[in-house]
Amino acid sequence: ANQRPILGIETSCDETGVALLRWEPRAPGNGLLAHALYTQIKLHADYGGVVPELASRDHVRKLLPLVREALAQAGLAPADLGGVAYTAGPGLVGALLVGAATGRALAWALGVPAIGIHHMEGHLLAPLLEEDPPEPSFVALLVSGGHSMLVEVQAIGRYRILGDTLDDAAGEAFDKTAKLMGLPYPGGPALAALAGSGRPGAFRFSRPMTDRPGLDFSFSGLKTQVLLAWQQSDRSEQTRADIARAFEEAIVETLLIKCRRALAATGASRLVIAGGVGANRRLREELAAAGARDGFKTYFPRLQFCTDNGAMIALAGAIRLAHGQHQDPSVQVFPRWDL
Ligand code: KG4
Ligand code: ZN
Repeated sequence: ANQRPILGIETSCDETGVALLRWEPRAPGNGLLAHALYTQIKLHADYGGVVPELASRDHVRKLLPLVREALAQAGLAPADLGGVAYTAGPGLVGALLVGAATGRALAWALGVPAIGIHHMEGHLLAPLLEEDPPEPSFVALLVSGGHSMLVEVQAIGRYRILGDTLDDAAGEAFDKTAKLMGLPYPGGPALAALAGSGRPGAFRFSRPMTDRPGLDFSFSGLKTQVLLAWQQSDRSEQTRADIARAFEEAIVETLLIKCRRALAATGASRLVIAGGVGANRRLREELAAAGARDGFKTYFPRLQFCTDNGAMIALAGAIRLAHGQHQDPSVQVFPRWDL
């Protein structure tokens, strides 16, 4: 019933993302018709982090213009839409409400179904937007600003959490570590860039929780190790790069060890990497190289679909709506929500 394009809306944090998609797994582009993104990074940079109220207000300003832009890109009118999907959580409550209220209102006005999507399911399914998408079952490493998880995807919609973070998420560890060495927000990409000019072996940090069995993560101790190393150093540019490199190596190797364990535990031969930290070059290279050595296949979303975007929400929504799932017309969001 739902062969008409689905509008996807993402407003859980500091990116306003919109996309139009008609789900066709084997078609070129997998049916993605248009996508548009506005990032609020500049707005929050002066504060060193996302200011929730400013984020909500900016989503209000940018969301409808982006919807119009995506429709124009695809050459579609609102009446062509077959449904609306929006991120319902987890995330900032005010930011989520902007996407949910707008998505619900549009769907109601157009007389089409709407569905609230779990943000992490969006990230998880983002590799399906690429050519040669992974077939379930597979293991997914979800590493974003808010989450570090290993998930067994038995089928689309059937997820088993294998491991989770006990404290900071991987992206959060990147951001906090960057901040304590004086790098501007958002620190993750800045720290990763700096790591490129770090010298190998100048510093070494531990690989947290790899010396005992299990698939959970803990990254907050790493931050403390970096703080001590930085405070006791000469604080030169080169030292900062050296520390950044050692920190990145520690995170990447820790993630790699846990991915290997998760693949062994589930017997899966496909590994999906998703979420903002999935944009990290060292992580992509090391995981792909390990896959080539050990015989598992790695799947990454393109860089712009690693970080928050509307396409992944349109995709998750199109699949769920195609299965007849939708919800009654109340505006509900879930700032905290288990996958
Ligand atoms: O998925 P995402 O856009 O938002 C959340 O759902 O959290 O992820 C953002 C996170 C931030 O912590 C950011 O620092 C991190 O992803 N990130 C990176 C890189 N690009 C983004 N971390 C390390 N290396 C990168 N290249
Ligand atoms: Zn995200």
